[in-house]
Amino acid sequence: MAPTMFRIGGDLGVRRLGFGAMHLPTEPGTARETSLAVARRAVELGVTLIDTAYMYGWGANEELLAEALHPYPDGLLITTKVGIVRSESSGEWGLDGRPAALRAQVEQALRRLRVERIELLQLHRIDPETPLADQLGTLRDLQREGKIDRIGLSEVTVGELDQARGIIDVASVQNRYNLLDREHESVLAACEAAGIAFLPWRPVAWGNSGAEAEIAAVAAELGATPTQVALAWLLGHSPVILPIPGTARTDHLEENLAAEGLALSLPHRDRLDRLAASA
Ligand SMILES: NC(=O)c1ccc[n+]([C@@H]2O[C@H](COP(=O)([O-])OP(=O)(O)OC[C@H]3O[C@@H](n4cnc5c(N)ncnc54)[C@H](OP(=O)(O)O)[C@@H]3O)[C@@H](O)[C@H]2O)c1
Repeated sequence: MAPTMFRIGGDLGVRRLGFGAMHLPTEPGTARETSLAVARRAVELGVTLIDTAYMYGWGANEELLAEALHPYPDGLLITTKVGIVRSESSGEWGLDGRPAALRAQVEQALRRLRVERIELLQLHRIDPETPLADQLGTLRDLQREGKIDRIGLSEVTVGELDQARGIIDVASVQNRYNLLDREHESVLAACEAAGIAFLPWRPVAWGNSGAEAEIAAVAAELGATPTQVALAWLLGHSPVILPIPGTARTDHLEENLAAEGLALSLPHRDRLDRLAASA
């Protein structure tokens, strides 16, 4: 069985199978009540890693998590992201890694999440218009000021990761990755070599690829669901993988967390490994 825990940055212990909060509806009404219930159920079921971002509802997702879970239980890590902004005029989103923008977003995240320090702060995207040293230097300053602790990156190449590691300690990387989408295998390998947490986004929603029948066949043989097979594959693929599947439904949340107990045999794993090439 794959290890169930990982120490982010070498010291912050979390359960590897986490929860992505992006899909939780935040508008007032029944949907919001369900969102609050899903977030609370995640923690009740032992989730200690929840992923959010300023971009998810422009702060509304962070506020929802605080409403659902504050005061936070010991050991719960809510990690957020900064670096993406919305234009006041067009409403469109864009990257802004300028020091003042990053600093402002971190200050706002502290208020919305109702914490004095963000234990893991991720740069949502590297802004190509701002020198990397300025972006990461700002996060390092915020770290020295005690406002954030560990720093993570998102959607980076191996080269960008190397460059960033020359400036800061990188605790985590969040790139799109799943059983059928292995584009960032080399980034995962670099993370594994350095003991950096790799949080694959889109871990279960791989879209239509033609490989569904084979995943469903493996799932049926194991008495599991295809989503559980995808998560069990991720957990077994590398010990630094911390999947953050997102759902707005309690039944799906429970199904996803139960994937931790699913053991894939070597022949099953071989069959699943072969799918990426044909997807
Ligand atoms: N860093 C980045 O750039 C980035 C980008 C995107 C997302 N993220 C983060 O990664 C997290 C996960 O990524 P994601 O939301 O794109 O993809 P995902 O978690 O792979 O897929 C979420 C979708 O899968 C469905 N789903 C979840 N569990 C299911 C189950 N057991 N059975 C059937 N359907 C299921 C959900 O619908 P239901 O609600 O109906 O269950 C939802 O539509 C997000 O929540 C967010 O925190 C990061």
